[in-house]
Amino acid sequence: MSKLAILGGDPVRRKPFTPWPQYRESDIARIVKIVESRHWGGYPLPTPLAKGFCEDFAALQGAKYALPVANGTVAITVALQAAGIGFGDEVIVPAYTWDGTATAALAMGAVPVFADVDPNTYCLDVESVRKAITPRTKAVVPVHLAMRFTEMDSLLALAEERGLIVIEDCAHAHGGAYQSQGAGSMGDIGCFSFQESKTMTAGEGGMVITNELKHYEALQTVVNCGRASLTDQFGQRLIGLNYRMTDLQIGLLMGQLEMLPDLRAKRAERAAQLSELLSAIPNVRALPAQPAITRPTHYCYIFQYRPEPGKPAPHRDLFVAAIEKEGIPCDGRFYEAVYKSDLFYATPANCAQLALGRDEVMDYSKCHCPVSERAAYDESVWFFQFCLIGEEEDVRDLARAVEKVATQLDVLARQDPALAGVKAMGRAQRARVERAKNY
Ligand SMILES: Cc1ncc(COP(=O)(O)O)c(C=O)c1O
Repeated sequence: MSKLAILGGDPVRRKPFTPWPQYRESDIARIVKIVESRHWGGYPLPTPLAKGFCEDFAALQGAKYALPVANGTVAITVALQAAGIGFGDEVIVPAYTWDGTATAALAMGAVPVFADVDPNTYCLDVESVRKAITPRTKAVVPVHLAMRFTEMDSLLALAEERGLIVIEDCAHAHGGAYQSQGAGSMGDIGCFSFQESKTMTAGEGGMVITNELKHYEALQTVVNCGRASLTDQFGQRLIGLNYRMTDLQIGLLMGQLEMLPDLRAKRAERAAQLSELLSAIPNVRALPAQPAITRPTHYCYIFQYRPEPGKPAPHRDLFVAAIEKEGIPCDGRFYEAVYKSDLFYATPANCAQLALGRDEVMDYSKCHCPVSERAAYDESVWFFQFCLIGEEEDVRDLARAVEKVATQLDVLARQDPALAGVKAMGRAQRARVERAKNY
């Protein structure tokens, strides 16, 4: 057995993976044209350039309307506002997601309520949502996480039964479809992010999609400083801010949308190969396939660290650090259970809605979603999507590195105290610490 790189051995891989984001010469030419046009802004909403792009994006996701916005967090915020969610309303969100899913609700004066996720998909567990519903619940925000979908048929049935608005967080699900319905087109409003790590990006940016003219009009008003929508059939007057996206971003996204189908299909093919390879490796588990997904989409590839009970094994964070030292970019603590995250400091002192008008103050320190916590702190391992768009050999390297480490857990466990420094910090967190040192 070859010596682990974290203990001084040769790494499985030295070659970098495919760089991200991807662009083509035609993107540069398009951006130059936009610069020369002197129409850089996002006004009117949508601009003539954005209008065509929105139609294409809406068609891909199977929605009637799409509207560009400043980023994915804003997309969720304006979706909640346009759907009428306001002060003191409860919004059910998964505990295992990016903080923005929940902080968007806080920004709207609403109270995020955490439900747990399903251990096989890491997406909202519909039974946990059912238990979280109170008379104050107005909306639910399923997140289609990394490479899986929330079981939308049962969630939509529950939402209909209890009269809940459904805002889909599709920050990870560009181009994906569940039971032949595009991500974001199944609930009331779908929200996308075009932040730099996403599978379509303009550095930053977001998109809201919907099949309801009423929602579309409200979204236009909220995104465009409160101005009446272009059609204004419903005459909704709402407070709006400037959440518009620029045409420079639209120009980049046009190229991204052209590349998406091929890249999405490639990721799906590579991910299937990877699952196959991982299935033969001890101490890890590929997430089971989800047959309802008819067009798979991979923002990241997640598998589970499952050391055999009773045998010596290091903590998940050290397992991940060892794979990373083999030359494979990966992360364990990619997301926290949001209510434990150091970015989620919501208390009645800064969010009055957690106390005002409630019989019981919302105290997030009392939250406990065991599946989310296990995923965040003990079990999940995340590979990045750019590892799935290169050569087939890249996928074999991912599996080789996992196998090399997963078959030497005893060796790693013996070293555990000596390597304690690498524990308990995710890749993003480590990067923050490193950056701070150079500041
Ligand atoms: C699940 C999820 N929701 C929302 C967001 C927010 O998107 P943005 O970073 O564009 O504001 C992200 C982005 O990281 C995300 O991953």
